[in-house]
Amino acid sequence: MNLVLLGAPGSGKGTQAELISKKYGWPHISTGEIFRNIKAGKSSLAEAVKGYIDRGQLVPDSITVDIVEQRISESDCERGFLLDGFPRSIYQAEILGVSLGRRGMGIDCVLYLALSDEAIIRRLEARRVCPGCGRDYNLVTQPPKENGKCDACGTQVARRVDDNIKIIRERLDVYRKETQPLVDYYIKKKVLSEIDASKTIEEVSVSVKEFIDLKCDVHRT
Ligand code: AP5
Repeated sequence: MNLVLLGAPGSGKGTQAELISKKYGWPHISTGEIFRNIKAGKSSLAEAVKGYIDRGQLVPDSITVDIVEQRISESDCERGFLLDGFPRSIYQAEILGVSLGRRGMGIDCVLYLALSDEAIIRRLEARRVCPGCGRDYNLVTQPPKENGKCDACGTQVARRVDDNIKIIRERLDVYRKETQPLVDYYIKKKVLSEIDASKTIEEVSVSVKEFIDLKCDVHRT
């Protein structure tokens, strides 16, 4: 099963992708995570990527598309994969379709996590990440147990650079302009299922599982 998690920044793509990946064993491919790893290095590419992420803008397709094409051609993706944060534009979706089509594959299911801007801003302003091991926290729903320190490795948790209100608004603008049109694009392709992402992580996860087990399976047969 080749699955895409679509949704605005902070709609819960990464959270649900982790749970799906654990349950079904498909590799979780997060372009945001790939770019944050690149950004942490020391190269001209790292500098360029940092500039885009920290301003809340999309990394250019000339960098993004090759990275994704290479990743989904790896052997662990042969039995399916889970894309989180890609595609983010009609252009990226078209390239993905062509690339998969060449290998006799396609996107079987797009899960669209729908959430209001107010809820998105609340969640992103409360998100904290461990700079040591990458574990995700949320000061409202999943706070660290002790004094802001990571439960797993003890490092002080921190905000993502792009999780301040000015950049969150920029990311939402970019989402509306570039990514939101993918909702109609995948509706027309009859692969999109909308999920109410305003519920708790567990409730959203139950809906996601139902769609994967039933609806996506129907699309595939
Ligand atoms: P990326 O990392 O993909 O950021 P994003 O799309 O803005 O998504 P987020 O990671 O912020 O949110 P999410 O939807 O995964 O939500 P999460 O589960 O973390 O991309 C970062 C940057 O990389 C981009 O801005 C761009 O520069 C670049 N980039 C990436 N892909 C690209 C591409 N294809 N092309 C070009 N550039 C690209 O949840 C958020 C918070 O809410 C967490 O604290 C979580 O605990 C909490 N939460 C989650 N679910 C719930 C719930 N149900 N109830 C309560 N709280 C919840």
